[in-house]
Amino acid sequence: MSMTKEAIFTQARSYKIFLEGGVSKETFTELYEIAKWAPTANNSCPLRYVFVSSVEGMRLLHNAAMDGNKNKVESASAAVILAYDINFYEHFPTLAPHVKNPAPQASWQPEEREKEAIKNAGIQAGFFMAAARAMGLDCGPMAGFHADVIERDFFQKDSWKYYFVILLGQGDSTELYPRGKRLSLNDACLFQ
Ligand SMILES: Cc1cc2nc3c(=O)[nH]c(=O)nc-3n(C[C@H](O)[C@H](O)[C@H](O)COP(=O)(O)O)c2cc1C
Repeated sequence: MSMTKEAIFTQARSYKIFLEGGVSKETFTELYEIAKWAPTANNSCPLRYVFVSSVEGMRLLHNAAMDGNKNKVESASAAVILAYDINFYEHFPTLAPHVKNPAPQASWQPEEREKEAIKNAGIQAGFFMAAARAMGLDCGPMAGFHADVIERDFFQKDSWKYYFVILLGQGDSTELYPRGKRLSLNDACLFQ
């Protein structure tokens, strides 16, 4: 596994178009087993994953894509659909046995549970992309899909809410735009 800061951060890009070549179930499995160690509040682990690599799965994903993302999905052979589970607390007996049962989160309003789930799922999604890059896989994160179609065609529980998709494989660097700037240290950071 190449673990350089270049491979994971400074040289890594968000790819749009992918070269031919799939991702095996073994690779998906290894990826999950690495990425699952991301930290989350109460160890709540709200991120859920649908790994897609079958022809039919990629066809359904293409069908769910917004127009601007369709050609990108067409080029890819594999993807992960990320969801956040607003009933994340149901796993607390395993994940957070220190929290009293039933968990206080069970009586939170759905909006509060959603906010908590998104906050922690975002950390996990970032770690997931870092893990993929560390394994030599390029990522194409993209949110532009119809959530209702994704939730109907891919998820099995109402508590799983569509988050975003990451196309996975070997990215085509000839199809990249020049890289966007990032905020300067002065604009983004305070020191005290
Ligand atoms: C949550 C999320 C949603 C995104 N949605 C889209 C999208 O729908 N279509 C697209 O082409 N790129 C999408 N992107 C890619 C971003 O534009 C890209 O990550 C950003 O410009 C940084 O590019 P870089 O990593 O190559 O520097 C998305 C990225 C993230 C993280």
